[in-house]
Amino acid sequence: MTLRTQVGIVGAGPAGLMLSHLLHLQGIESVILESRSREEIESTVRAGVLEHGTVQLLTELGLDARMRRECAEHHGIYLRFSGETHHLSFTEHADGRSIMLYAQHEFIKDLVAARLAAGAQIHFEAKATAVIDPESRQPRIRYLQNGAEHELRCDFLVGCDGYHSIVRPAFPADRRKELAHVYPMGWFGILVEAPPSSDELIYALHDEGFALVSTRSPTLQRMYFQCDPKDDVANWSDDRIWARFHRLLETKDGWKPKTGPIVSKSIVGMRSFVAEPMQHGRLFIAGDTAHIVPPTGAKGLTLAVADVNLLARGLDEFYRRGTTAGLDGYSEAALRRVWRAEHFSWWMTSMLHRFPGADEFQHRLQLSQLAYVCGSPAAARTLAENYVGFPMP
Ligand code: DHB
Repeated sequence: MTLRTQVGIVGAGPAGLMLSHLLHLQGIESVILESRSREEIESTVRAGVLEHGTVQLLTELGLDARMRRECAEHHGIYLRFSGETHHLSFTEHADGRSIMLYAQHEFIKDLVAARLAAGAQIHFEAKATAVIDPESRQPRIRYLQNGAEHELRCDFLVGCDGYHSIVRPAFPADRRKELAHVYPMGWFGILVEAPPSSDELIYALHDEGFALVSTRSPTLQRMYFQCDPKDDVANWSDDRIWARFHRLLETKDGWKPKTGPIVSKSIVGMRSFVAEPMQHGRLFIAGDTAHIVPPTGAKGLTLAVADVNLLARGLDEFYRRGTTAGLDGYSEAALRRVWRAEHFSWWMTSMLHRFPGADEFQHRLQLSQLAYVCGSPAAARTLAENYVGFPMP
């Protein structure tokens, strides 16, 4: 069977769903192909920070009702090092802007519900297998669903299918560049049934490594500590996990995290990756397909939303006025924001982790940088304005 649509989207993550929603509001038709089931995409645990601009966009689109009820608004973060905790205020250093703690899979649920309510075509468990005629004005994507092979023909094809994309490799190898950096550590993440340990997030650097105290709800908390990326969650009993958190988060005044039953344990790797350009002819890439950031600072989701906000505007100009300036400028404009977030995420990661093999000199540089961020309004602003994020493009 061959389907036909204006914009073919591979992947129902934040980028694909948001793009489909924005296009729908502009009267442009799209079809999403997603290899996983709806249940799986709605339950996979990811990060949980929405930047100020993302919240504003969701509000403008009327997608903010459940988020407003269930999220927590934060006006700063804590930086903890040398056994002391310092507050970095966004109110003071980022002109009163704030962030929202709202789990990515809850954001996905809201978007899927909005798309399906508007009659969208989201094909779950539809595995894209090949891009056909990538250079033509009508690229096609072949996919498998319920054991049968189908094709989707479209005016534009957008890869929102993550790092292992089927669309990115369809760009000719001599026209693209991939820049990557792998970090020698991972994050061990848990969900714990307990009340919040802190009113705002705590980013901690201890002599032995990094820890983060985050939150999901009044009864469920998200916490991370730095680990070997090749470690296995099976090696970590609950007691061993709490001993690690107590050590990495210890303060001179005896602060302790609130403990409880651990209901999820996982390890994420850390890397930086950028693919340039983000367009080839009528093929586009957005979100994790085009760029990955290490988790420190939680920039992944917002970058995906910013990409598709630009792309939707370019597609609107094309269908409404027949002009391609927005589409032609998409890659360059998106990459400007991407590289800012790449730098910020790398910088936060470098400042807050114990790198295997690093010496005392490097640790002292990190402590000096942290003290500078906490002591100088200019340095505090650098962190705060990047953390709350720049206006949506
Ligand atoms: C969370 C994840 C992050 O990477 C971060 O910097 C802050 C919070 C989270 O999952 O809550």
